[in-house]
Amino acid sequence: HFHAAVGAVRSAVCVFWSRGDGVPCAVYSESRCQGIRWEQVGNIPAAGYAHWKGQVLTAEELNVLYEGIKLNKVNHYDYILTGYSRDTSFLEMVVDIIQELKKANPSLVYVCDPVMGDHGAMYVPENLLPVYKNKVVPLADILTPNQFEAELLTGKKINTEKDGVEVMDLLHKMGPDTVVLTSTDLPSKNGDQFLVALGSQKIVKPDGTNSSQKICIDIPKVDAVFVGTGDLFAAMLLAWTHHHPNDLKTACEKTVSVMHHVIKRTITHARELAGPGNRPSPAQLELRMVQSKADIENPATVVEAKVL
Ligand code: ATP
Ligand code: MG
Ligand code: NA
Ligand code: MG
Repeated sequence: HFHAAVGAVRSAVCVFWSRGDGVPCAVYSESRCQGIRWEQVGNIPAAGYAHWKGQVLTAEELNVLYEGIKLNKVNHYDYILTGYSRDTSFLEMVVDIIQELKKANPSLVYVCDPVMGDHGAMYVPENLLPVYKNKVVPLADILTPNQFEAELLTGKKINTEKDGVEVMDLLHKMGPDTVVLTSTDLPSKNGDQFLVALGSQKIVKPDGTNSSQKICIDIPKVDAVFVGTGDLFAAMLLAWTHHHPNDLKTACEKTVSVMHHVIKRTITHARELAGPGNRPSPAQLELRMVQSKADIENPATVVEAKVL
């Protein structure tokens, strides 16, 4: 799912372990990224699928991979993106590595998708929450929780847009300068066919004081469940904040537009495969990533964010 990020970000080096309890897809350095651009190694069936296989990468095994990167002196990273993890010692190793990589490159941007749960329930062990709160989130530059994850991290429920804004400010206080709540249950002014995402980016004003840009964006809802959309969102936000580092509104519009194009292509294809009157199966709903290459690189903007 992260190939989009690898392809879209020049000079990014991604260590990525994809969905599924840290089953590693690959560790690529920049030079190798050129070679694998847009070649789909495959969505590794893991979390979100009925069956999954493969080995869980341990903290020590991750450290060994990192040692190899250091020995070869390819430890200069511009971006790091992390997602699903279900083990505290693995997550603590990730923290140690990112701290070191930030020393090697102080302008490294760490994008953290604090994957913990959805719709009121945690799907990782509860002991990950304090690690995210106390160690991971303070290191993050960009954070992409869904509503439930944002509520867990701040201890504050979101019932109104004002709550959402306050939660994003609390998250800023914990570390990240850019926060996007990738979806919330807040009612959309356009009706119940839309999901609402909220974003906030800290800005330093010319007089040196801090403020923030807050935005709200309506996402057209599709009646299906997809696997990997959270990953794709985080990857696209990384790519578009690279191009628009001080313009969260544009970065979010591009990100959500990519999501729209990929999801639309996916659901259209899935419905064709399923045939009239049938609900598409999970296999038919695999995200049409490669087929969406042109839209990912240059998405026609289909949504406008509102500045709050
Ligand atoms: P995941 O379960 O993959 O980790 P998440 O809960 O972290 O996801 P969400 O906020 O649910 O993240 O979804 C991320 C993005 O995916 C949304 O902002 C939206 O753009 C898109 N998306 C997911 N499901 C749908 C859907 N059914 N219809 C439209 N857009 C969707
Ligand atoms: Mg969700
Ligand atoms: Na998310
Ligand atoms: Mg998620």
